[in-house]
Amino acid sequence: MRVVHTKSEVRAAVAAARAEGKTIGFVPTMGALHAGHMSLVEAAVAGSDFVVVSIFVNPMQFGPGEDLEKYPRTLDEDAAQCEAAGVALVFAPSVSEMYADGACTTVHVAGLTEGLCGQFRPGHFDGVTTVVCKLFNIVAPDRAWFGEKDYQQLVVIRRMARDLDLPVEVIGGPTVREADGLALSSRNQYLSATERAAAPALQAALQEGARAAREGATGAEVERTVAEALAREPMLRPQYIRAVHPETLQRLLGESGPMVIAAAAHLGETRLIDNIKVEG
Ligand code: PAF
Repeated sequence: MRVVHTKSEVRAAVAAARAEGKTIGFVPTMGALHAGHMSLVEAAVAGSDFVVVSIFVNPMQFGPGEDLEKYPRTLDEDAAQCEAAGVALVFAPSVSEMYADGACTTVHVAGLTEGLCGQFRPGHFDGVTTVVCKLFNIVAPDRAWFGEKDYQQLVVIRRMARDLDLPVEVIGGPTVREADGLALSSRNQYLSATERAAAPALQAALQEGARAAREGATGAEVERTVAEALAREPMLRPQYIRAVHPETLQRLLGESGPMVIAAAAHLGETRLIDNIKVEG
């Protein structure tokens, strides 16, 4: 496995792999790899011949006052995990390698980015779609894997690829959880012991909502159920709770049926997100 830092090295390595008839799999990450990332990497290794993992803490997707500076950077450990998993190439560019001086072009996916996290993190999804579009252009993968934990991100990237005719299949991988239900996230390491103990209440509340949804509750009723369950853990301060259509991300309110129940909550200084999908 090689770790490279420039776009030209990625292009050359991918061209050589393609010349040998290999398919290219891609897992974009911001590093601090955990079992959730590694499940995507394993799927990519199983589903393609030459796997590229990018590790780039993308400043463009962090807002003012967010955790850009303190976001964990653990390249050596990440590379070792990638190598053990069968990755062919790790791309770890600098900010100046990714963004030319004076770069002023962004990718914006309208509508889908307005609700859920987009409502509370203005500009975040433009940062995500811009960097992912650039990474797709650099790596030119056949297939790319994204975690379902960031459900809105997955839907937005899938739509971007479709709308811009990017020749890549976008694949979602299931959320990996701790034994107590907490979704794995690089940000979980910010939690104190007391906060960590309170954190699983987020998924537990979403599960209560999912039970109500399966019994025919409307979106509004599901959101209320989740809010009541979350209120039993006062350390968790909900930012939003939404029952939305799995593809359009429109809030359902009066409707029941298939839905994704998504929530964000602050726990101390840390912002957690999670979701649960209810099939029809
Ligand atoms: O999900 C992430 O880690 C990031 O948003 C991504 C997709 C790597 C883009 O920076």
